[in-house]
Amino acid sequence: MIKTSDKKEKDYSIYFQPPSLVDAKKRGKAEVEVRYESAIPPELRTFGEGKFYMIRTYGCQMNEHDTEVMKGLLEEMGYQSTEDKQQADVILLNTCAIRENAEDKVFGELGHLKHLKLEKPSLVLGVCGCMSQEESVVNRIMQKHAFVDMIFGTHNIHRLPELLRESFFSKEMVVEVWSKEGDIIENLPKKREGIKAWVNIMYGCDKFCTYCIVPYTRGKERSRMPQDVIAEVRELARQGFKEITLLGQNVNAYGKDLDGLDYRFGDLMDDLNKIDIPRLRFTTSHPRDFDDHLIEVLAKRGNLVEHIHLPVQSGSTEVLKRMSRKYNREQYLELVGKIKAAIPDVVLTTDIIVGFPGETDEQFEDTMSLVQAVEFDSAYTFIYSPREGTPAAGMEDNVPPEVKKARLHRLNEALNEISFKRNRELQGQVIELLVEGESKNNPEMLSGRSRTNKLVHFEGGQHLIGQFVQVKIVDTLTWYLKGELIEESAQVQAG
Ligand code: 5AD
Ligand code: SF4
Repeated sequence: MIKTSDKKEKDYSIYFQPPSLVDAKKRGKAEVEVRYESAIPPELRTFGEGKFYMIRTYGCQMNEHDTEVMKGLLEEMGYQSTEDKQQADVILLNTCAIRENAEDKVFGELGHLKHLKLEKPSLVLGVCGCMSQEESVVNRIMQKHAFVDMIFGTHNIHRLPELLRESFFSKEMVVEVWSKEGDIIENLPKKREGIKAWVNIMYGCDKFCTYCIVPYTRGKERSRMPQDVIAEVRELARQGFKEITLLGQNVNAYGKDLDGLDYRFGDLMDDLNKIDIPRLRFTTSHPRDFDDHLIEVLAKRGNLVEHIHLPVQSGSTEVLKRMSRKYNREQYLELVGKIKAAIPDVVLTTDIIVGFPGETDEQFEDTMSLVQAVEFDSAYTFIYSPREGTPAAGMEDNVPPEVKKARLHRLNEALNEISFKRNRELQGQVIELLVEGESKNNPEMLSGRSRTNKLVHFEGGQHLIGQFVQVKIVDTLTWYLKGELIEESAQVQAG
């Protein structure tokens, strides 16, 4: 038996319909509500006392940040964090739907957790995140993984305390997945750790690239109010965070939906440039909305770092058209030219999909030549994965799997060569690092990141962790650099 705890009649529909392009595109403009609320009802503030939670996060930084919100909520309920499955009273899987293999991992994990649930029936097992917004996934869990206690969507995160209570007192599966529109809930608690923090500037996506599930799972594009973002960044600076990454599926569309406000991403970056936080990054950019004003603002530098992640997806104008990316090869290259002219030492990284339906050898060669022309420092590369309900899933997937694999391999080889070459250009240079911690493979060494996000290993004392240092690059490899400490405290200029 399924119990829905949805109190918003109008929103409750999603898992009876597959994600539909037509319906999603019909979504209204004026319905976004910004709610400033304190999420935890007083009677739930001790609900988790003496109990432990564990959240397993899949996918992108947006999901990582949602996990921080859920941790914040759980800890305000009195729950404590654990990494030990056996100790956990609540286990949540914060899932990703971007490609099939991401979903396979979650179903694999559910298989393992079934045994745990049999051993410990009081365990509350929840599935949330992007997969929960898909009809087929919800149905599959209800039918084949009935031991799951709760399923909630990306728009229902703030309801976690109530859903847990419901699940605790109910013998039935609690399912709450709201519409694809989505509101903005401010003031939710967030458990942040370390020296780097994420800040959402917007939610959702209206681009509807034909291969992508995100506009369905994350709802429509909706920007947070500038003053809310600025206040959050100021507060993080006050708390001593050293680096902030602004998050949005398409940060370049920031502000477009803020009726009556002529305030875009460039304006936001310009305002944040004046705040005393040492480093500001942002992800992810869409080339179509990347405007000249933003380039002008980024060229002011200060806390705005010289790294831009600019997903291209393909170097072929025909493929880009079928992907509905709304720019062509020449426009992308022109944008790159403008960025490099304004910020000559910029590091560009990208995302590329190979084997999109109908991609010919020639069209793939266009991607190869674009990669050479731009000289990306690194790239995330993927084999196209059909996503149910998206327009591309209806296109004939006529590229044989071995051809897709061979293309991916060739592309990665080329990208590695370029990375190696670009890194070699840093040999002998002195660069600023934010020291993140011990090196993963060698506790004698420390590792840090440059402004351009390059990973650098160097020898230094533990007291440097969390600090800025200057290092001289003494060796360069494809994936990382080696440095020598030359100065312990760099003068960091912000704004
Ligand atoms: N198949 C393969 N890769 C995809 N991406 C998004 N959807 C798909 C898909 N269906 C890639 C894009 C995007 C990145 C986050 O994931 O390159 O930029
Ligand atoms: Fe997906 Fe990004 Fe395209 Fe939006 S812009 S549909 S998130 S690939």
